Amino acid sequence: MSNDLKDKHGTTGHEWDGIEELNTPLPRWWLWTLYACIVWAVIYSIAYPAWPMIKSATPGFLGYSTRAEVAADIAAVETSQAGINQQLASAELTEIAADGDLNGYAVSQGGAVFRTWCAQCHGSGAAGAKGYPNLLDDDWLWGGDIEAIHTTVSHGIRNTEDDDARYSEMPAFGRDELLEEEQIDQVVNFVMSLSGTPQDAGKVEAGALVFEENCAACHTEDGTGDREQGAPNLTDAIWLYGGDYATLKETVTNARFGVMPAWAGRLNEAQIRAVAVYVHQLGGGE
Ligand code: HEC
Ligand code: HEC
Repeated sequence: MSNDLKDKHGTTGHEWDGIEELNTPLPRWWLWTLYACIVWAVIYSIAYPAWPMIKSATPGFLGYSTRAEVAADIAAVETSQAGINQQLASAELTEIAADGDLNGYAVSQGGAVFRTWCAQCHGSGAAGAKGYPNLLDDDWLWGGDIEAIHTTVSHGIRNTEDDDARYSEMPAFGRDELLEEEQIDQVVNFVMSLSGTPQDAGKVEAGALVFEENCAACHTEDGTGDREQGAPNLTDAIWLYGGDYATLKETVTNARFGVMPAWAGRLNEAQIRAVAVYVHQLGGGE
């Protein structure tokens, strides 16, 4: 067999220990495929973005761009939703829930907004974490009707970016020496008694007096809190920061200052309303 090929194509003239290198050409079909690929690559790299340059790649004469394609897709969706977004942004807040189509749209859009912008702090299921309120229950710091939620989301809480942000400040009773260590111990035991948490009963009476003089102005006489000031209800055993002795002592000593960003400048009105409707229907809406 090797002699047949040798007769047909000859050798390259190389020879090692009697083994000769045949000069068999590459198969035709293979060679033409290679040439076709080269031609294709040249055409492609002229037509489409290809060669990396300093700032970006060569654009290609067809002007194709995946970014432009995404932008066009987004624009198409926005155009198709413009009508309902307009409707959502201008509807009476309290009437959205009763409008089946609008409400359904708001809840699904609001869910997407929530997962993008709110879940980092409030949790993807909105159950919250220490310092970040649970939005699933009916325990509200600032109010749980649709208008209160809309205001909270629009302006935020204790931030410096929005003049209309909700604001209040609990004094740092220990750090600023407003109360003695002993009084803090007493009032913490009193606060624990409000929610039926086991406490040092001997200190509760003295604690009640400290509470009346120092805390009732914000948390009210009976400790049920004041939404005007975002002062939490201390009687319901639902804690923003924690209801054990050590955490309560820390809260009273150094106070807390929960901050939430304002969304009015970051999201449009339809998005803010959508997410407010979404939060409102999670379970605790009033
Ligand atoms: C950077 C963290 C952060 C992000 C992001 C955030 N929040 Fe908040 N949110 C908070 C904190 C902290 C509070 C509680 C403030 C306080 O102590 O009064 C709060 C409170 C709230 C309240 C008031 C709850 C009540 O009991 O009155 C609502 C409603 C709320 N957030 C909704 C949202 C929505 C909707 C988004 C997304 C658009 C969002 N939050 C994004 C931190 C955040
Ligand atoms: C000027 C109003 C004000 C006064 C006075 C005040 N508080 Fe508060 N308190 C607040 C606010 C507002 C918060 C919520 C802070 C936050 O959300 O970050 C709060 C939070 C708390 C919490 C946290 C509750 C939780 O769910 O984790 C406790 C406990 C508490 N206060 C106890 C007291 C006690 C005890 C006193 C008196 C010694 C007192 N407060 C006085 C406004 C006040």
